[in-house]
Amino acid sequence: MRLLVTGGAGYIGSQVVLDLLQAGHDVVVVDDFSTGHREALARVQALAGRTCTVFGGDVVDRDLLFGALRGVDAVFHLAAFKMVGDSMDRPERYFRNNVGGMAALLHTMQEAGVHRIVYSSSAAVYGAQRQMPIQEDAPLRPESPYGLSKAQGEQMLEWMVQRRKWSAVSLRYFNPVGAHPSGSIGQPFESAASLVPRVLMALTDANARLAIFGTDYDTPDGTCLRDYIHVCDLSRAHLVALRALDEPAHHIFNVGTGRPHSVREVLAACARATGRDVPFDEGPRRAGDIASAVADPGRFQRTMGFESHLGLDEMVSSAWRWWTLNPRGYEDRERLPELALPELADPSRSLAPAF
Ligand SMILES: NC(=O)c1ccc[n+]([C@@H]2O[C@H](COP(=O)([O-])OP(=O)(O)OC[C@H]3O[C@@H](n4cnc5c(N)ncnc54)[C@H](O)[C@@H]3O)[C@@H](O)[C@H]2O)c1
Repeated sequence: MRLLVTGGAGYIGSQVVLDLLQAGHDVVVVDDFSTGHREALARVQALAGRTCTVFGGDVVDRDLLFGALRGVDAVFHLAAFKMVGDSMDRPERYFRNNVGGMAALLHTMQEAGVHRIVYSSSAAVYGAQRQMPIQEDAPLRPESPYGLSKAQGEQMLEWMVQRRKWSAVSLRYFNPVGAHPSGSIGQPFESAASLVPRVLMALTDANARLAIFGTDYDTPDGTCLRDYIHVCDLSRAHLVALRALDEPAHHIFNVGTGRPHSVREVLAACARATGRDVPFDEGPRRAGDIASAVADPGRFQRTMGFESHLGLDEMVSSAWRWWTLNPRGYEDRERLPELALPELADPSRSLAPAF
């Protein structure tokens, strides 16, 4: 198939592009490199031994996107901003990029006659839930502009399916962690606000100490429980979701492991992976944190046969390998063989009567 990945130069997108290339698909990427890296795509191409077509630009650029959609069978829409805290400070950026970007994408896809999409949604659509593990039919209570933007993307898809007979899958990611086992693609830590990168950063800075926010939660060891999923498992979920795009329907799936880990368990896994003890301070609870957020992964498993394979130790050790090979993220080019950055496609040349 010919598949378009928006946000393909990002943390999760680059892993998805790699898996799609390795599965034999033709891949087109649209990315404005606002948080992604051309270097990530250079490394993906080297790992896959194949190239993808890269359009450098914003998904709201109708002409660029229309050109990129030429001959495409389905779209993976990952391009978005993702920082919950930042969205609380600057909600308008999330409404413009995530909601506005989605609206523009749907419009251009409809124009181009491409009606199949896998959408990167998030556990942030749930907010605080009483019932654990969380099932997909739980009421949505997003507690941040980011979570709201993701929920609105799902709602737009619902209407495209109902009124335009599209096929859509919304994947609600829980907490992606880890890196490709080679250590050559992963998450640049400057853009990571989640626990594992924070712990690993604390381990490499002699003056840093990790703060544990709250040790009196109603959980087995008093710290918060979260559902972490290895980025390679998460990426594989996209290939599985592709198989659900053969009928007009909107499938919504949690993508987590269903196996929660506490903050203390994560610290212990980081100590095992690195051979170093993590310096930490126990502090009070942080406003807005909830005790537990765990996926019920059953629907995806029953409907599509998806299962995660990799555990917390693999997540942490792969993140550590990536971090030690690339302490400055994709700026550390000198550590790896020099790779040619991908050529950017010229949209004006692919605009010719495509459909
Ligand atoms: N990483 C997580 O913890 C997490 C959790 C749940 C859901 N998600 C979702 O997964 C998706 C990918 O997340 P990620 O962690 O890879 O983030 P990322 O920031 O690493 O990647 C996002 C990519 O999209 C690109 N992009 C952003 N806006 C764009 C636009 N308007 N046009 C073109 N390109 C644009 C960026 O340059 C970047 O390459 C996002 O939709 C995010 O909301 C991520």
